[in-house]
Amino acid sequence: MSENQPYEWSRYFDAVQGLPPRDTLLKAIDLHESAERAAQIILPPGHRPIAADLGCGDGRDTLELLRRGWRVIAVDSSPDAIHRLMDKAPIDQMDRLEPRTQRFEDAKLPPIDLVNASFALPHCDPADFDDLWEAITRPIVPGGRFAGQLFGIRDEWAKKNPDNLTRTFHARADVERLLDRARLVPELLEEIERPGKNAFGEPKHWHVFHIVARRVP
Ligand SMILES: C[S@@+](CC[C@H](N)C(=O)[O-])C[C@H]1O[C@@H](n2cnc3c(N)ncnc32)[C@H](O)[C@@H]1O
Repeated sequence: MSENQPYEWSRYFDAVQGLPPRDTLLKAIDLHESAERAAQIILPPGHRPIAADLGCGDGRDTLELLRRGWRVIAVDSSPDAIHRLMDKAPIDQMDRLEPRTQRFEDAKLPPIDLVNASFALPHCDPADFDDLWEAITRPIVPGGRFAGQLFGIRDEWAKKNPDNLTRTFHARADVERLLDRARLVPELLEEIERPGKNAFGEPKHWHVFHIVARRVP
């Protein structure tokens, strides 16, 4: 089982401070809003869609969900992440935020409209990944979505592990199988493989799947 170092994540939170929400999250919110408009759904007064933000970090995605009117269960194993998130969350939106200092492997989710996991699930131990995937995708309601990233097998960290974190990597066929098994139909399945930089500006070869997928009945 991986034990992530709080120090490492605090350095990461400093490095990504102030960055905008992830494109996968924005696409999932936009798709949700247009589906509601298209269906001309009359929602009961006070109704709010509900999302889980797994590995929420200091809240770049959670804060956007709150701003767009969602209720959010924000899960991160790093106490520093949750402290930073709570410092930033607007006071008048706090009643829609459920912060959890918890491993996402242990998170019990209610029926949910969106599971968002930006650059987070690859930090699961490979031996636990299939159980995690089952546990986080089962609560997604029909018409609900998964948004986030998985790492590809040619990602540099699959060979070199500079920071001693245990990570899971997937081939494209694995990703397709995972989506299929969870009855998630991709609306975005973008495989990016290219040289780039890590959060600290150091060179790194990335192989990443960017995913937005919709649950079918
Ligand atoms: C690369 S950061 C991504 C943070 C944020 N989602 C973003 O897009 O910037 C990964 C996050 O996952 C959290 N994390 C790593 N392993 C975790 C686990 N097993 N359970 C919950 N959170 C975890 C870390 O504390 C960190 O905040």
